[in-house]
Amino acid sequence: MRLISAQLRDFRNYQNLVIDFPSRLTFLVGQNASGKTNLLESIGLLAHGRSFRGSSDADLTREGTNGYYIRAKYEKTGTRNEIEMAVDFSSGEMRRRIKLNEKPVTARSAIVGQFMCVVFSPADLQIVEGGPGERRKFIDATISSMDAVYLQNLIQYQKALRQRNALLKRIRERKNSPQDLAIWNTRLAHFAELIWKAREDFLERFHGAFTQALGQISGDRDKITYSIHANHRNDLMSYLESSTMKDTRVGYTTAGPHRDSPQFEREGKDILQFGSQGQRRSIALGLRIAQFHYLKASTGVTPVLLIDDVIRELDALRRSAFVKLLEESGQAIFTTPDLDGLDDNMHSLLKQSVIYSVSPGGNVERREGKNV
Ligand SMILES: Nc1ncnc2c1ncn2[C@@H]1O[C@H](COP(=O)(O)OP(=O)(O)OP(=O)(O)O)[C@@H](O)[C@H]1O
Ligand SMILES: [Mg+2]
Repeated sequence: MRLISAQLRDFRNYQNLVIDFPSRLTFLVGQNASGKTNLLESIGLLAHGRSFRGSSDADLTREGTNGYYIRAKYEKTGTRNEIEMAVDFSSGEMRRRIKLNEKPVTARSAIVGQFMCVVFSPADLQIVEGGPGERRKFIDATISSMDAVYLQNLIQYQKALRQRNALLKRIRERKNSPQDLAIWNTRLAHFAELIWKAREDFLERFHGAFTQALGQISGDRDKITYSIHANHRNDLMSYLESSTMKDTRVGYTTAGPHRDSPQFEREGKDILQFGSQGQRRSIALGLRIAQFHYLKASTGVTPVLLIDDVIRELDALRRSAFVKLLEESGQAIFTTPDLDGLDDNMHSLLKQSVIYSVSPGGNVERREGKNV
């Protein structure tokens, strides 16, 4: 899979940018707050339908304007494709239009899996160190990025959960009766099982890729298992029926896949309590490398790597695992504030790269010749 070009209109700090990606490797170099991550974010948005920074459409729209337009042209298994997304607030309500090869599609889920990328970001450490929600998000995003049915099930589950939670509050206020929960209990239990099954299948297959990546990074010293503690998986329906009092009191649904707590364990102990900072960084990097291999193996398509500002953070061992990944991968787009301090391995990559200078006004210019 190869990204050919991107266009950003009124997206973040870009008024109108068209950028080509003629090389396998691209470096975006620019000072802090110049718009490097913004550019990667727009590409990620066309792949996943959502911002990898979790930003809203209002935040993505350039200040002082009423909406944004982004487009990616890419090549996949020999054919050229195009995804466009336009968001418009001018009517007072948000309108989103998405096109795949010039044909409108109705939902964001329709573009998922079309253009595939894996994003490496310093924020990945949050997957390891943040709350269980961060780890669920990683799992859900990985499955969703190639399985639109999973994404649909997740959306349906979340909808039912919101409805049930709203109803719990109304029951507490005596505006509804507990019997009204039955329909939502059934819906929740139905989608919950589909989600659990998919997460279970995923983890079974992901585990091998993860262990292998971690072995490369940490020299095989860390044996870390990645497991998910399902939450009333065997008896969710009867749990929901019997927990009405408790759920009404607390005002939310107290069991289900939204409460799963994935953990990283080393020799049976939670890595958060016993792991070193270095081990956590290794896990974060290992997760992304594994995500790349998993998506590649599952779809037969090589995802594009979007690497936001992580190169210089890596120590020697992790950097060599990273360079190995780049050798095995297809296209990669890096951001970095400057090119100083890169080691020889990275310099050999630089020689094969196209380098763009990004400056704060949203200007992106290609650097030519020896001044790299
Ligand atoms: N909606 C918006 N409209 C206009 N400008 C925006 C908008 N959202 C963000 N920006 C600007 O984009 C800049 C940040 O861009 P970005 O996060 O891409 O920086 P960066 O080059 O990745 O920096 P760093 O090296 O610090 O990570 C800020 O100057 C911010 O003011
Ligand atoms: Mg950035």
